[in-house]
Amino acid sequence: MDEMDMEDIAKALVAPSKGILAADESTGTIKKRLDSINTESTEDTRRAYRELLFTTEGVSDYISGVILYDETIRQTASDGRPFGKLLEAQGIIPGIKVDMGAKPLAFSDGELVTEGLDGLRERLAEYSRLGARFAKWRAVIGIGDGAPSQYCIDTNAHALARYAALCQEANIVPIVEPEVLMDGDHNIDECYAVTETTLKTVFDELYKQRVVLEQMLLKPNMVISGVDCPIQADIEEVATKTLYCFEQTVPAAVPGIVFLSGGQSEQRATEHLNSMNQMGKFPWEISYSFGRALQASALSTWQGKEANIAAAKAAFLHRAKLTSAARDGEYSADME
Ligand code: 13P
Repeated sequence: MDEMDMEDIAKALVAPSKGILAADESTGTIKKRLDSINTESTEDTRRAYRELLFTTEGVSDYISGVILYDETIRQTASDGRPFGKLLEAQGIIPGIKVDMGAKPLAFSDGELVTEGLDGLRERLAEYSRLGARFAKWRAVIGIGDGAPSQYCIDTNAHALARYAALCQEANIVPIVEPEVLMDGDHNIDECYAVTETTLKTVFDELYKQRVVLEQMLLKPNMVISGVDCPIQADIEEVATKTLYCFEQTVPAAVPGIVFLSGGQSEQRATEHLNSMNQMGKFPWEISYSFGRALQASALSTWQGKEANIAAAKAAFLHRAKLTSAARDGEYSADME
């Protein structure tokens, strides 16, 4: 991997049949996940859970890269190997979440802006020494009660571009993640409009800040109905509107679009991804960078118990295989 440049890394992350595992839950978020299986969140349980995922044999057929959290990139597996090295030995590229979370945006009621630019150049240099070849920064755009404001979109887009430029300066591939949330009762067309404006603004900022499009990946939401919307768009409508939105906004020079799952069920996220990949050839690869939609079965099978590790690994491998099939447009529900 050492001889690969940023363009090679970006392409390798979206190689055929492969996508990214997002395992970069912050300490607060992983606690919520572990709470859901009545397991205390300690440094050791978090390590054990991540080790279960990263040592699942065969998963490198489906997973090109893993996004780690600051704590995890410094941890070692039970055999003493640092997690980054353990992944690399399987041909999986280690990545790192570098944002410091979404905080209240000044003079805006309830909107958020992602922090973490101060000292980022130095942190990127350290993460590079620790083996990270790509990074992630997530901006959060909510819909409802007049939101989002253009102010919120602009400030988040500006920060995303500053992050992406610093990454490329450090020879690290930036994953640019502007997530339009699915929380709320808005319909799919409202999601479309907000996603379109957000992406136009983000790519404008990336251009102004000299980010090289061939050396990045975009990690967006799908264009989808709000979770509480009484009329839920079907799979084909989601796939069609999502692709149309990206055709309007994402330059062809970007090598890949890696979707987040955003709270969709494992199966729904897989069906949407599959449908898009069945709709033909596009300028960019259409792949995944799922957190929950790759981990939910593994987590609930594990239940924090040593005795369930083998079954949890099998559940994770199965889910990764189905997601990979969807990335190639070859998934069908009977494979579940
Ligand atoms: P989900 O797929 O669970 O949305 O997580 C992906 C991610 O990394 C969000 O930042």
